[in-house]
Amino acid sequence: MNKINVVTIDGPSASGKGELAKSIAHQFNFKILDSGILYRLFAYFFNLKLSNEEIASKINNDISFELKEDNFKILNQSDDITNYLRSEDIAKVASMLSSQKEVRESLFQIQRNFYDKKGLVADGRDMGTVVFKDAKLKIFLTASPEVRAKRRYLELQNRGQEVNMPALIADIKERDLKDSSRELSPLLPADEAHIIDSSDMSLEEVFSITKNLVKKEFI
Ligand code: C5P
Repeated sequence: MNKINVVTIDGPSASGKGELAKSIAHQFNFKILDSGILYRLFAYFFNLKLSNEEIASKINNDISFELKEDNFKILNQSDDITNYLRSEDIAKVASMLSSQKEVRESLFQIQRNFYDKKGLVADGRDMGTVVFKDAKLKIFLTASPEVRAKRRYLELQNRGQEVNMPALIADIKERDLKDSSRELSPLLPADEAHIIDSSDMSLEEVFSITKNLVKKEFI
């Protein structure tokens, strides 16, 4: 198989995929795809009662991503919907929809279109197993549910959202179970993935390991 210039980072929610993806993209000047946001956008438009075709068209035509102070802002035309998309309410709907074949198929090409032959770092659940099977480097990043819940707690608190820790741990465990046990594209490491458990690691340590792997594969 011809390998393409993509680093995939898969793993459960709040394992640090997004931060790692941003650091790698920044270091190597790669483009970035946060596939979870596409599932969350799907959920957002689903809640507005749009059909699958209308949703795909909205994502292609009305949505833009703006990088601001190292963070993504997601705009629906000129409306900033970032905080709403990042909420646990939307995550639940996204997780429910993500087990549907039509939804995964609608998003497949949108995700592939992020690759334009230059470097891309793609994070999600099935980047290495389905969407970019032909990626040069595959990472599977994980951490214990408690550590991940704590990270998500701080993230949501920083966004000014109300959070309840026990409910958050329960939500994360439930979502992991759904994502890992679904029939289509379950959350699993690709055969050739490098598995990194970040429970006892700092962001810098995870970045350093991954950076060395990218250098080995790409340079
Ligand atoms: O990563 P994030 O928490 O933003 O993803 C939201 C939900 O979207 C996940 O719980 C998962 O069900 C779904 N998802 C997926 N495949 C991906 C990315 C996200 O099924 N590649």
